[in-house]
Amino acid sequence: MSPIRAVIKGVGGYVPEYILTNQELEKMVETNDEWITSRTGIKERRLLKGDDQGTSAMAVKAVRELLEKTNTNPEDIDFILCSTITPDFLCPVTSNLICDMVGAKNAFSFDLMAACSGFLFALSTGANFIESGRYKKGIIIGGDKMSSIVNYTDRNTCILFGDGAGCVLLEAEENSPYGIIDMAMKTDGSGLPYLNIRGGGSRLAPQEYNKDNHEKYFIYQEGATVFKTAVTRMADIAAHIMERNNLTGEDVQWLVPHQANKRIIDATADRMGVSASKVTLNIEKYGNTTNGTLPLCFWDFEKQFKKGDNIILAAFGGGFTWGSMYIKWAYDSH
Ligand code: COA
Repeated sequence: MSPIRAVIKGVGGYVPEYILTNQELEKMVETNDEWITSRTGIKERRLLKGDDQGTSAMAVKAVRELLEKTNTNPEDIDFILCSTITPDFLCPVTSNLICDMVGAKNAFSFDLMAACSGFLFALSTGANFIESGRYKKGIIIGGDKMSSIVNYTDRNTCILFGDGAGCVLLEAEENSPYGIIDMAMKTDGSGLPYLNIRGGGSRLAPQEYNKDNHEKYFIYQEGATVFKTAVTRMADIAAHIMERNNLTGEDVQWLVPHQANKRIIDATADRMGVSASKVTLNIEKYGNTTNGTLPLCFWDFEKQFKKGDNIILAAFGGGFTWGSMYIKWAYDSH
């Protein structure tokens, strides 16, 4: 084990102002507030409006807040990793744009894609850069403008997703009892048929877009299959991380789960023996922001986290991808 720990030193976040409510969705597709709330736990979601606004527009606001809150000089940042499935462009990548906009002149940066598990995978990657001893400070961002890939005539998906971005500052600390203690990640590419965006990549290239295949350029989900897979895999991997670190539900102060469906979250907490009051929830106001969900939970609950709290992260997403992480929280927020 490296004597260097990657420690979270601060949190930033941003959600757009525009609120899309269930009532508004009732006017757009055949659905109703009761169905959406009881099946998913979602009441409203935020949408990024305005021309020429991509994921970076939200991420930059989150990073600026983080730099200010932690009194960090952007030139001291060694790396910025951005997990997103809705980059502004394919090239240059979103994290490069963010570095430029926030003045992180000495940082290297790249984007990372692992669907809804992306932030957890990026945080693990960043933690390993720090534990290697080569880098001292990094920012890990998770954010998505899901409204750019959602088909607002498809009731199966348009009720689920929202836009938002969050980030954390990671720093190296020697022999610290705090920080990122353990992580586990898994993938299974046989999940392709159940959750995908088939258009826009190299198999169905942008120039092949036409009126007959345009739906393939939006997110597609076979909800029931994804639901069943998510429930077992997210709970299994979180239970595995707890077991490996000799933690019971009593020892865990917070479960920070991916916010895709309240029923999946409840099942995961049950399996871990963690009571509902210890679960960070913001799905009712943001929906599923994909890469944004975990850092936005940090952002909303930062003031309630206490130094020394045992926090378990759990994520599941398209691919399939899934993972869990054990963090010992390093600070009290004032
Ligand atoms: N409003 C009203 N009815 C709807 C609806 C909506 N927005 N969307 C679907 N329905 C209907 C379906 O057409 C279906 O009708 P039918 O029985 O007449 O065919 C019925 O509701 C049940 O659909 P189903 O997909 O089986 O519902 P569900 O209970 O599985 O809930 C999801 C759907 C999407 C909420 C749920 O499957 C889910 O959350 N899946 C996992 C999402 C997830 O974890 N993603 C992780 C990666 S991001």
